[in-house]
Amino acid sequence: MKISVEPVVLGLVSLPGAIAWGQLGHYTTAYLGSYFVSNSTEAYLKDLLGNTDDDYLAGISTFADDFAHSHEGDFTRGWHYIDAHDNPEAEDCNVDYKRDCKEGGCVISALVNMTELALNSQTSEKDRRFAVKMLVHFIGDLHQPLHNEDISQGGTTLSVKWQGDERNLHKVWDTLIPEKFTEHLHSRQNRRALEWAQELAGEISNGKFAAEKDSWLKDFDPSDSFNTVMKWSNEANDFVCDNVFIDNYEPSEIKGKELSKKDYYDQASSLIEKQIARAGYRMAAWLDEIARNNWHGQDNAEL
Ligand SMILES: *[C@@H]1O[C@H](CO)[C@@H](O)[C@H](O)[C@H]1NC(C)=O
Ligand SMILES: *[C@@H]1O[C@H](CO)[C@@H](O)[C@H](O)[C@H]1NC(C)=O
Repeated sequence: MKISVEPVVLGLVSLPGAIAWGQLGHYTTAYLGSYFVSNSTEAYLKDLLGNTDDDYLAGISTFADDFAHSHEGDFTRGWHYIDAHDNPEAEDCNVDYKRDCKEGGCVISALVNMTELALNSQTSEKDRRFAVKMLVHFIGDLHQPLHNEDISQGGTTLSVKWQGDERNLHKVWDTLIPEKFTEHLHSRQNRRALEWAQELAGEISNGKFAAEKDSWLKDFDPSDSFNTVMKWSNEANDFVCDNVFIDNYEPSEIKGKELSKKDYYDQASSLIEKQIARAGYRMAAWLDEIARNNWHGQDNAEL
């Protein structure tokens, strides 16, 4: 991101409840999702979304953030996270749906609802399009550890240092670490996301993630989206204890600390890399399932 656009961007992210992997994280997970979906899923989604370009998923991956900040979408603000009322200070991390999902909904209920909406044969094309846009975003959000944590409002009110500047912990995890980690790639955000997704697709297909990629889908049960999402949420929430608040950076100690230092940054960035990869790979499996149930196109003619 160019320094010159920073003031504008700051204005946006300082809105209450700043949300989600930054654009880089969402675009990358969506490009990865589009890389791993089946050909018939790709055809189905391009038709549904009315976009035959390579960015048919990346282009809608931040819609849910814009919608949450619009007047009509205000009621969806809480759908981007779940506030786990656990205790990272005591190394006690866990998500409990009954305890943690707020009345207006959370990322868990939103994913379940949007999946039902996308799968229901009575759903209109317009609503199905909406559901897919929301799903692509929320699957990404679910993999950001601090979207599965209540402490200091997911870290948004916890002030830390990043390369000398005062920042909030959530922003460091959403945006600043991913941006530093991909500095070797193109400077333009969307191009960078595409290049990062290509790198990660290689790591998943035949690189460092190849051996474990099957295990990423072991909890994926298309007939039970609630339990699937809860397992992935608990997995991400475990990283709050293990990777966000590491030794010497516990909740009571982290305030004001410099997080771009090697001891913190190295382990955090390698976890973020894996979470982005996981999110994209799982997104593809999820979308394949939705397309398989909805696809009434000419399978035989197309394939
Ligand atoms: C999917 O599409 C790609 C590119 O169009 C093609 O190379 C590949 O063979 C297709 N895969 C299948 C399983 O049809
Ligand atoms: C999900 O659907 C249920 C039942 O229709 C509703 O009560 C709940 O508010 C919805 N939550 C979300 C996050 O959409």
